[in-house]
Amino acid sequence: MIVVKSHDGGLLKVDGFRIRVFEKLSLPPIDLRLKAIREAGWNTFLLKADDVFIDMLTDSGVNAMSDKQIAAMISAQDAYAGSRSYYELSSVVEELMGFKYVIPVHQGRAAEHIISKVLVKQGSIVPMNYHFTTTKAHIELAGGEIIEIPVKEALDKRSTYPFKGDIDIERLEDILRRFGNRVPFVRIEAVANLLGGQPVSMRNIKEVRELCDKYNVLLVLDASMIDWNVYFIREREPGYKSKSLASILREFVSYADLVYMSARKAPSVRGGLIATNNRELYEKLIVHVPVYEGFLTYGGMSTREIAAMAVGLREMIDESIIGSELELINYTVRELDKRGIPVILPPGGLGVHIDAVEFLSHVKRNEYPAGSLAAALYIASGIRSMERGALSMDRDKDGREIYPDLELIRIAFPRRTYLKSHADYLIDRLVWLYENREVIKGLQWVYEPPILRFFLGRLKDIDNWGEKLVEIYKKELGEY
Ligand code: F0G
Repeated sequence: MIVVKSHDGGLLKVDGFRIRVFEKLSLPPIDLRLKAIREAGWNTFLLKADDVFIDMLTDSGVNAMSDKQIAAMISAQDAYAGSRSYYELSSVVEELMGFKYVIPVHQGRAAEHIISKVLVKQGSIVPMNYHFTTTKAHIELAGGEIIEIPVKEALDKRSTYPFKGDIDIERLEDILRRFGNRVPFVRIEAVANLLGGQPVSMRNIKEVRELCDKYNVLLVLDASMIDWNVYFIREREPGYKSKSLASILREFVSYADLVYMSARKAPSVRGGLIATNNRELYEKLIVHVPVYEGFLTYGGMSTREIAAMAVGLREMIDESIIGSELELINYTVRELDKRGIPVILPPGGLGVHIDAVEFLSHVKRNEYPAGSLAAALYIASGIRSMERGALSMDRDKDGREIYPDLELIRIAFPRRTYLKSHADYLIDRLVWLYENREVIKGLQWVYEPPILRFFLGRLKDIDNWGEKLVEIYKKELGEY
């Protein structure tokens, strides 16, 4: 954002870009929305994008790209080995983050796969602020187990603690003291996705680093949403107000031994990377790259994406570009909060997160309040959100449900993609749904996959509540 003084003595934040390419959207009528969600097994992942009005499923791979990124794609050098585009990417990573060894991989979970293969063994324990679905799956597939140790404020939905992504330092030390030899690394997710997009403070990563040094354990940073974390540190952490985004980024990543990212997020392309200064670790990791990804200088990505990633990484610290969607999220969360909708506070990165257990307090946890709310929001608005609750967890070894601390729907705001009128429409439809929430019942399984079940699972609405919701909607609001 470009920040200037306003005429009345306040501050004005103005988007430092304009839109030169746009995509037309169309709003399907409510009957079609009901038909589409039925055909999708009440799972928003299985909707066809053409049946969606405003796609807020994720920020992954759907951020708006800049003119400079598109230009870089055209001048990328296609070569199976040794592409100039790879060397350009490497030098940008070294310049911005200070890491010499850069491994491209096809996306974030590919990085998690390779890191877990090298570092995680049967019986390993990986402490972290919070898991992400694919991270947990890869650590467990490699024989390890995760322990989540966020600060206690993270699970208090109404707490406005500014860094709910922080690790509980005392619990970390306790784990390292007790299980140190079984801990290959501590993982920090900058902007903790499943905690509602909450950032990690500089102070916290510094303290985690000190403990990692004391117990001789690696610190791995998931930097998929590092752009937002850096912005929040400047906005919220004492001592950083007048620092540049570039210097905050540089300091934050300097505490990690290894950084990986889904480049589908912060750098707004489609790919991923791993970066480190640890030569020994680098040599162990690269063994797996040609087997699972591709040659070392393309790692399963198109060289066009690699070229655009180099530009996207630089744009992550461009003062006038960063922050646009965060300001829109902030506005939306505050408006929803004013109207009594149970949102996660304070506003974080990624999107608006709604507490489905409170929104649908009459729906039992084993009938999936968040899954039901995501389906209902689609019916009532054509907006696609994502379930981030029990459905997004798989059952334990004995087939029992695991109920995560937070049962949320996530309404993502991809970078530089949606406008204030979209946010106002979302607010309006959520308020309507809240007023009619009693109609929404739970979901039950039709087909339940054994792993990462939220992607492909199919369900149905208990007692046909979808039809009743549509009936009321049409009576009050019409066909659209
Ligand atoms: N780590 C974090 C923090 C993520 O948010 C994601 C993906 C990944 C790793 C995996 O990366 O998708 O490139 O393989 N998050 C997406 C989302 C899917 O919608 O939040 P990937």
